[in-house]
Amino acid sequence: MTPTKQTFLNQVEQNIISSLAWDKEASWSDRPALAAAAQHLCMAPGAKRARPKLCYFFGLAVGADFNLLVDIATTGEFIHGASLLHDDVIDSGTLRRGAPTVNAKWDNITAVLAGDLLLAESIKGLHRCPRSIAQEALEVVAEMTRATMLEAHIRGSTNVPILQWEYIAQGKTSSMFRWCGRSTACTANDNEAKERFGQFGEHFGIAFQMADDLLDIRPTDSGKTPFADIRNKNPSYPLILAQNISDDFRSALSKAWNRPTMEEEEIFDLGQYVIATGAAAQTRDIIEQRINQAIEALGPYVERPGCREIALWVRNICKSLPQSEAV
Ligand code: IPE
Ligand code: MG
Ligand code: MG
Repeated sequence: MTPTKQTFLNQVEQNIISSLAWDKEASWSDRPALAAAAQHLCMAPGAKRARPKLCYFFGLAVGADFNLLVDIATTGEFIHGASLLHDDVIDSGTLRRGAPTVNAKWDNITAVLAGDLLLAESIKGLHRCPRSIAQEALEVVAEMTRATMLEAHIRGSTNVPILQWEYIAQGKTSSMFRWCGRSTACTANDNEAKERFGQFGEHFGIAFQMADDLLDIRPTDSGKTPFADIRNKNPSYPLILAQNISDDFRSALSKAWNRPTMEEEEIFDLGQYVIATGAAAQTRDIIEQRINQAIEALGPYVERPGCREIALWVRNICKSLPQSEAV
């Protein structure tokens, strides 16, 4: 029987809880701080569960095996969670999902190693699924790793081509959404859906990362430290656009990034400057285009229950983005 969305999400929640129980098996119980750290991130009330929701709706569209889908959605959350644990070490992040990050509450060692164990747990959780699903999950981890390395290497650069940004976003964000779509379709043996849902994930991931980058240039209640990209010299999408629009902005950013420290006021002003160039408004428009491309990729599946909800959901993400005026 097809579960309701709430029942499905509750099952995923239960699976997350039982997979991370510190007394479950040696991998966690040996060093309970690792379990506590993984629980702190994965069970935080601020988690949006975007990946499990996507699996559920795609599952409705193809008549997926919902028992396997609980495992797939949990794996999606764990790989995403591990990438966040590692990302917060790389960025010295202090706030995540509305709570202190694991590196801030414990330390970098705990965050890195809890992330590694979470990756191991994520693949172990796929033992009932077709082998190709685990293989593709490992490829996602590899893509995320390569993209994150490139992102770390180009920090502070003020001439990053937009295509390089796309490669990074594709690796760190799209790859997981693509996997959720493909894996869901795979449980129903639907090859056309596998292709189409994967394409949806590619476009949606880019739009999702653009929206994440856009939220970073102003104070929000996103549960993350605002201005992390400007502070960490991460060439985010609106920062690159603003530089392409305005040479004055490019030189202001370059000067700020070449000084040993930046004042908080200066960081705030740079965010406002991005908005003033029109780059935030342009980013919003491009997000809308990519969302439309994602929906178009669904082809005839868009008429099916599940895909209709996905189309509504992703369009709402666009609508809920902050307006593009300066504060
Ligand atoms: C990766 O994005 C997290 C997402 C999937 C959006 P970032 O590298 O920008 O990380 P945070 O979450 O903004 O720190
Ligand atoms: Mg970060
Ligand atoms: Mg971000």
